[in-house]
Amino acid sequence: MVLPPAHSSRLKYVSLGVLVFQTTSLVLTMRYSRTLKEDGPRYLASSAVVSAEVLKILVCTLIVFMENNFSVRLLKEEIVNKPVETLKLAIPAGIYTLQNNLLYVALSNLDAATYQVTYQLKILTTALFSVSMLGKRLGLYQWLSLLFLMAGVTLVQWPTESEVDSEQAVLSAGSQFVGLMAVLTACLSSGFAGVYFEKILKETKQSVWVRNIQLGLFGFVFGIVGMTVYDGERVRESGMFQGYNTITCTVVALQALGGLVIAVVIKYADNILKGFATSLSIIVSTLISYFLLEDFNPTSLFFMGAMLVIAATFLYSNECKPANGSAIKV
Ligand code: C5P
Repeated sequence: MVLPPAHSSRLKYVSLGVLVFQTTSLVLTMRYSRTLKEDGPRYLASSAVVSAEVLKILVCTLIVFMENNFSVRLLKEEIVNKPVETLKLAIPAGIYTLQNNLLYVALSNLDAATYQVTYQLKILTTALFSVSMLGKRLGLYQWLSLLFLMAGVTLVQWPTESEVDSEQAVLSAGSQFVGLMAVLTACLSSGFAGVYFEKILKETKQSVWVRNIQLGLFGFVFGIVGMTVYDGERVRESGMFQGYNTITCTVVALQALGGLVIAVVIKYADNILKGFATSLSIIVSTLISYFLLEDFNPTSLFFMGAMLVIAATFLYSNECKPANGSAIKV
């Protein structure tokens, strides 16, 4: 489906806004679900991943049906009859599965703040992959804004002294190294998988919904393998949906919405703008937890970082068409 420029520009900003909303709600819901004390078993994270993939595939299939007068012809033509095209999506799906597991390793071996700050490096890896794989040209101010963005998010997430004392004391140097390697590899995989998906979306004519079904099908298969390996025993004992409650279903729905909106953002904006949207949502969720949940005391570093992130966002979007002299290509 080809959209007029004004329509696709509106979609770009609406999708970025929805991404800020989705990321913020997911963080707050997950934090709330962690503090909630309930009887019975906790839900399995590996099962939630599979459920979110299924929901994503169902919603995308419904959209494709509605766009094609409820005919299965397009799905058959694009997915079943083009196995090589479909197989191309196994690459980002496999990398995302690896990445989601690496982040789990990172979180188990690093304190949360170091993990979050280091993971911001994905903004730079994404920019480098966009330049090398998509031939994107960034102006000097856009490169500068990426550095400001990273510096800003680092300040926003800088740990307070009490957090450092309580978390780092239990982590050995060896496990810090393992955690750091895991998160650095995840930065590379996040940049590569995102830009690879963007290349497929922008260089072929298939709709974003068909591409998301193909990605989701592999995500589902890899997710089932992950669930069997990590939690096979527990699934056999108490079933895949053990411990599910309303909050779990909300987390699953928000995660599925994330997959949908990320695909739309990548199609109509790009992976770099997606980085800005998620950085803004870090600030929004921190402010909400300060005003509503009262479980966070912002420091002056937080406010300096927040100003830097907001300034970087304006600096980046002000220079959408790079001036001849300032555009540099790596
Ligand atoms: O940290 P990063 O931005 O790379 O994370 C992207 C997340 O979005 C991954 O967990 C990936 O599984 C998910 N995703 C998705 N559907 C897409 C693209 C990404 O579910 N079309």
